Amino acid sequence: MHGQGVFAAEPITENRRIIDYAGELIANAISPQREARYLAEGCIWVFRVNRAWSRDAAVGGNIARFINHSCTPNCWFEVVGTTIWIRAARNIRAGEELTYDYMTVGDHTIPCRCRPGCTRRL
Ligand SMILES: C[S@@+](CC[C@H](N)C(=O)[O-])C[C@H]1O[C@@H](n2cnc3c(N)ncnc32)[C@H](O)[C@@H]1O
Ligand SMILES: [Zn+2]
Repeated sequence: MHGQGVFAAEPITENRRIIDYAGELIANAISPQREARYLAEGCIWVFRVNRAWSRDAAVGGNIARFINHSCTPNCWFEVVGTTIWIRAARNIRAGEELTYDYMTVGDHTIPCRCRPGCTRRL
């Protein structure tokens, strides 16, 4: 869909915790500056955890940072404390691209390419 993406190397059972979205834990007070810097390069790396904290996957992130957004995703995210779990929303076949709904907040500048004609902006 965009860039590298992440694809299932084996079948994944519904609800499995696949990976956590790793990254530096930063206070929301400082996240807008970082988000603006990344967005200038067209990328969203900062994931809002809760009202106080965000995770910046550009610093200490893992492969979860390459998972793309879809409006009809096969994964979902679950926040447990300050850990963001990416979980399977259904049984996923080997070879399928993993996606979740980013549920972005902010300016919504990036046109979504999840399917032809999608009108959403990330
Ligand atoms: C967390 S990164 C995802 C990894 C990125 N695709 C890569 O391989 O470098 C988020 C960025 O991917 C792009 N992206 C992810 N899902 C997208 C989608 N459905 N439509 C358009 N761009 C998308 C956007 O540029 C977004 O800022
Ligand atoms: Zn879409």
